[in-house]
Amino acid sequence: MKAIVLFGSPGSGKGTQAKRLTGCLGIPHISTGDMLRDRIRSGNETETMVATMQSGALVSDQVVNEMVEQRLSEPDAAHGFILDGYPRTLDQAGTLSTWLGGRGIHEVVIHLAVDYNVIIARLTGRRQCPRCGTLYNVTSHPPKVDGVCDLDGTGLVVRDDDSEAVIRGRLEAYDLQTRPVLDYFREAGHRVVEVDASHETPDGVFGKICQTIDGQSAELA
Ligand code: AP5
Ligand code: MG
Repeated sequence: MKAIVLFGSPGSGKGTQAKRLTGCLGIPHISTGDMLRDRIRSGNETETMVATMQSGALVSDQVVNEMVEQRLSEPDAAHGFILDGYPRTLDQAGTLSTWLGGRGIHEVVIHLAVDYNVIIARLTGRRQCPRCGTLYNVTSHPPKVDGVCDLDGTGLVVRDDDSEAVIRGRLEAYDLQTRPVLDYFREAGHRVVEVDASHETPDGVFGKICQTIDGQSAELA
């Protein structure tokens, strides 16, 4: 069972690395942000939730915990999963620990540490394919043809919450509500691996993560 928690601030590269890992490990990528955006797109969410996400604040623990518990119980997650963007409050961390602990599963937490001064540039430059989800960056990873997905030719979009004002709100929520989760994991004796993700390319960061996972493979197997 490979239970991987990709942890890090907005723009730290969680989605970028999770997409690479899911391809190489054959276990699902579970992104709470993507799941919530899908729910909004399908018209199943309240205006309150839409407004919460547009402001950069966190959605309620109850909604997110229920969504994740349901997702982790699906058959494709039986042999492992990569969590991206969850847990991000102490309440969520407690819920996850109880869920994993009850099943004898030991997770590895990978903290993608990134300087805040590079995050605004990364996020304002992010572009995403609305069809296949591939992530680009106008500076560090541009598509071959401006504004068009390399893989399926769809026009790329900017996420609603990637304006500079909202990014600052998301970073504030991270500092206040999410950063303490790292201390919770460390103090509870969970494995937390630090990966410096500020200065390396996505491939360089991926190499470091793979080394970590290889190093832990005996425990994760
Ligand atoms: P979510 O979708 O999780 O957003 P986030 O945490 O703000 O993180 P991002 O997706 O913005 O960044 P990322 O780390 O995935 O970086 P990426 O790989 O894209 O959450 C959105 C909202 O949903 C929240 O604000 C909240 O409202 C709600 N929500 C979600 N989960 C919740 C929860 N558990 N509880 C409550 N509410 C929740 O990379 C960013 C850019 O950088 C890309 O352009 C990429 O190409 C580029 N890049 C990546 N790596 C590198 C590199 N090494 N070098 C240069 N560029 C790079
Ligand atoms: Mg993401």
